[in-house]
Amino acid sequence: MPMNRETAKSEAAKLLDQGKRLDPDQALNFLNSCVAHNYKLLCDDPVVKAEGPWLHTARGRTIFDGVAAYSAANLGHGHPLIKEAIKGFLESGYPTVLGRFMPDPWLALFARKITQLTGFEAFLPANGGVEAPEAALKLARRWAHRERGIASPEIIYADRCFHGRTLTVTQMFDEDDKTAREGFGPFAHGFVRVPYDDVSAIEKAITPNTAAVLLEPIQGEGGINIPKPGYLKKVRALCREHKLLAIWDEIQTGFARTGKMFCWEHEGDAARPDIMCVGKSIAGGFAPVSGILAQRAVMDQFEPGSHGSTFGGSPLSSLIACAALAAIEFEKLPEQATEKGAYVMQRLREIARKAPRIKEVRGLGMMFGIELNQNGPDGHEYTRRLLELGAIVKDTHHWVMRFTPPIVATREELDFALGLIEQAFTEKSRLNSMSREMERLRD
Ligand SMILES: Cc1ncc(COP(=O)(O)O)c(C=O)c1O
Repeated sequence: MPMNRETAKSEAAKLLDQGKRLDPDQALNFLNSCVAHNYKLLCDDPVVKAEGPWLHTARGRTIFDGVAAYSAANLGHGHPLIKEAIKGFLESGYPTVLGRFMPDPWLALFARKITQLTGFEAFLPANGGVEAPEAALKLARRWAHRERGIASPEIIYADRCFHGRTLTVTQMFDEDDKTAREGFGPFAHGFVRVPYDDVSAIEKAITPNTAAVLLEPIQGEGGINIPKPGYLKKVRALCREHKLLAIWDEIQTGFARTGKMFCWEHEGDAARPDIMCVGKSIAGGFAPVSGILAQRAVMDQFEPGSHGSTFGGSPLSSLIACAALAAIEFEKLPEQATEKGAYVMQRLREIARKAPRIKEVRGLGMMFGIELNQNGPDGHEYTRRLLELGAIVKDTHHWVMRFTPPIVATREELDFALGLIEQAFTEKSRLNSMSREMERLRD
């Protein structure tokens, strides 16, 4: 018997109830036994509700999300405009997935919107973030073969970069990052590593085979590394001079995180890339949506059959992205990031003055890195302590704490998180006992 609406409702209610009733220990048990162990859980308290910058847990805690799901939730969790759009979309009976061989209005509207917003002529939709650099690299290689006659194209990329974890970009992890690299070879040829924020290193690395330069405008996962002003513009000029494609990965820095819609805009149109990778907040944290943007002359290297994805650009993910882009505009997110970012930076600098463990605070817009002196507990210890206190502020590369809160967090909410950061970095007795524990572990 086909399922009617009433049965569907009651079955769905049962399903939702299962989530609500699942004992936290049981949830942990399932997560540990049934999920691949490629992530280490920070705590044993499942998150069961999320709103704005707040996470509510099964064991009754409320936690400030100070990394905004790695910048996928720039709009906070559960933005009401996106929620309403999804409800209406489902009620209207629009298709959720079709396969890209069938036209639909939602990809049409999404692509129109994102190209207008960015000033690029064409958009290639995908799903998870890493699919965007992956597609950009394919596109650059094909362009190099066809337009420049390069038989074996090379791509220049930067030390400490992070473009995701597919096989192509896995080799880009630092040589000493054994967990991320070891055992995944052999890697694809044609990739050349240079130091970040060093224009002359790129210039020296260019050969007749160079096709493109792939960079993050600010390195997020690499430690919130902010290049000197003019870096992108100079690399862009170099690319133009040597007929290379400039590829900026804005997956983390995009959609207002740094105070502009895209980070390269801080350097003006002279820093505009040939290919831009987008992801994360493009869908407001509701769905995995990513993609690349380019002008037609480059994008048209992809013809039917050359690249694709079943779900990339599906009607449902396109609708969600349309709603997220509308929300980003409605909230004036870049302006919010600039204004709140200046306040947070000032407060973090005040905290740093009182906290000898902090070596440096750096940031742009609402993207902050708190670098620690390497003579005491490392970032992971502080991540755990901050979570105990009530905020997620996450370490990267051991010695940098990443603070990238939802941009919509209010001044009071940000003050709450900043108060906890201050407490974690200035509490004397706790720090001493953490140091003693570290000493013990080292011995
Ligand atoms: C700059 C950058 N590129 C690509 C990715 C990969 O995105 P995803 O984890 O969604 O595949 C990330 C993720 O953090 C990122 O920061």
